[in-house]
Amino acid sequence: MSLKKATDIFNAWAIAGKDDGMQKHHSAAVNVMLDTLVGPRTSKFSFIDAGCGNGWVVRQMENHPLCTRSIGIDGAEEMIGKAKLIDPLGSYIHSDLLTWAPEETFDLIHSMEVFYYFNNPKKVISHIVKNWLNERGEMIMGIDFYKENSKSHSWPNDLNTHMELLGISDWVEIFEESGLTQVTSFQTNAKNDFPGTLVVHGMKGKS
Ligand SMILES: C[S@@+](CC[C@H](N)C(=O)[O-])C[C@H]1O[C@@H](n2cnc3c(N)ncnc32)[C@H](O)[C@@H]1O
Repeated sequence: MSLKKATDIFNAWAIAGKDDGMQKHHSAAVNVMLDTLVGPRTSKFSFIDAGCGNGWVVRQMENHPLCTRSIGIDGAEEMIGKAKLIDPLGSYIHSDLLTWAPEETFDLIHSMEVFYYFNNPKKVISHIVKNWLNERGEMIMGIDFYKENSKSHSWPNDLNTHMELLGISDWVEIFEESGLTQVTSFQTNAKNDFPGTLVVHGMKGKS
């Protein structure tokens, strides 16, 4: 059987109401990521969630007192439809991350459990760094599907979709080769045999 497109899977998940489960399962790691990205900031910032699902992180940031603009992009139309239903005045865009670019660049990019669905993660990350991020911007991603988390290795078979299995040092290298500096990684919320969500963070134009 041919592989399914990730966005088709997530369209079905949105219809089945499984987007709420993602919020529930991802929120502890996302809160750590947002603390890393936004916590130290004292000046205003704009924010994009790349692969936003039903937009829950976009809405979380909309309520941050320093956030001037918070938008979400996702390739699953049903996820974006749900986001707009929950928050009709919010900014949610239905597009493939590889083809979309904003008219003006943004300060902060966040992405949770998205980049490994791409055949070539470096291509999408380079596109985002080049076309979405302003000259002193920052990007953070979180993923649970990676080499050091052996329990995750069955996911592509389980879901019948492509997932790019890379290790921690591969992801760090991709961030660096995409034009980010001061790249750091850490694992958060480890529990029992789960080694934690892998978080990678980098800055543009600061070496
Ligand atoms: C595991 S979900 C995570 C959603 C959200 N970040 C969250 O934590 O709830 C992955 C998301 O990536 C989106 N996605 C996958 N491939 C994409 C692509 N090529 N362009 C845009 N979105 C994509 C899917 O539609 C899906 O909503």
